[in-house]
Amino acid sequence: MSQVTFIAQPGGSLSGTLRVAGDKSMSHRSIMLGSIADGTTEVSGFLNGEDCMATLKAFRQMGVEIEGPEAGRVVIKGVGMHGLKAPTAALDMGNSGTAMRLMAGLLAGQDFEVTLFGDESLNGRPMRRITQPLSEMGAAIETESDGTPPLKIQRGSQLKGIHYDLPMASAQVKSAVLLAGLYADGETSVSEPAITRDHTERMLRGFGYDVKTTGNHMSLQGGGKLTACSIDVPADISSAAFFMVGASIAEGSDLTLEHVGINPTRTGVIDILRLMGANIEVLNEREAGGEPVADIRIRSAKLKGINIPENLVPLAIDEFPVLFVAAACAEGQTILTGAEELRVKESDRIQVMADGLIICGVDAQPTPDGIVINGGTIGGGEVESHGDHRIAMAFSIASLRATAPLTIRNCANVDTSFPGFVTLASGVGLQVSAE
Ligand code: S3P
Repeated sequence: MSQVTFIAQPGGSLSGTLRVAGDKSMSHRSIMLGSIADGTTEVSGFLNGEDCMATLKAFRQMGVEIEGPEAGRVVIKGVGMHGLKAPTAALDMGNSGTAMRLMAGLLAGQDFEVTLFGDESLNGRPMRRITQPLSEMGAAIETESDGTPPLKIQRGSQLKGIHYDLPMASAQVKSAVLLAGLYADGETSVSEPAITRDHTERMLRGFGYDVKTTGNHMSLQGGGKLTACSIDVPADISSAAFFMVGASIAEGSDLTLEHVGINPTRTGVIDILRLMGANIEVLNEREAGGEPVADIRIRSAKLKGINIPENLVPLAIDEFPVLFVAAACAEGQTILTGAEELRVKESDRIQVMADGLIICGVDAQPTPDGIVINGGTIGGGEVESHGDHRIAMAFSIASLRATAPLTIRNCANVDTSFPGFVTLASGVGLQVSAE
């Protein structure tokens, strides 16, 4: 992989209007469900990032004809529930935990053997959280001895429906079990310890599949079919979050983000920033393709440190790197607890953010399940993103309040979720360049 370094100059403000990259979670799911549907599914707003492209290529390798993406448009010629073909090679999931975990569920019930592998980061991430429930359903999946990828999914016997109590709040695990449940005998159900993103349930319903949700309990019957539909993928609130924090912390900012997905299982970042004193308006709320969307206007505000309510953690799980930057700029102390899941993301986001913030002179103390940050001044320096897209973008945003230039190493993976970040961000006032 080519080495990419971001250089961010200190200061500036964010103003104007922009539409950030398409929603990553929905883009993955559109390919997966479109591929096993009957008929042709048309997707607009698809995220042309490396993660979703890994999913798209994998389904092409399993014989699905897919056109695009071209200007966000993808056309998927669905092959039906039992139309996927054995790929001739192992499937490369790149950096994407979502691709690997959801596809493991979907592929556990196929009539062929398939291997899923990833890059160095993904190959170090825990997979027992999915192989355990899937094996209870009758799947046979081999991992490395420490439970990490590659995943060798054997050609299994008929899966059976189970009830699974999720041990952690994870939409990926929930989705893996539900997608396997499409191929299982009888009912498959899950209960989650806290509400997590519900894009799988919503999109299955959009494809005409009956999924029941009662509180934190979801269930479906195996053996049905999906009917092709059209999917409008909104801008990703997780990508929008960088700009929400940026416009909040940089004095003189006034920024509008268009057509952002505001599914209530994803809006923790807005709630947390508002608790910190941010000035965020949610405008023109509307519905697009079964998901709520809105335009979001952010003006700079003086932020204060808070104790982040634990119930908001799963609803903002991908936004913590940049929320830590907000905390570093806030007056007083911010305390995060109940967020141990951050340690098993694309990087250990608690440690990696703490290390980078400390290099910049911020008082940040990692804890086993969170962090304590005392707001103050962000200095300059050279930080390491460990190939984690969200760490790289979070430190780029920190430059708005830094006192000296920031050099951010190992940023190539920004293309996994937000291709064009540097150009788009520069267009609204961030002084960042890639080399
Ligand atoms: C995702 C679920 C979350 C999130 C990831 C996308 C999804 O992961 O961090 O970026 O699309 O289902 P977990 O299920 O591990 O919390």
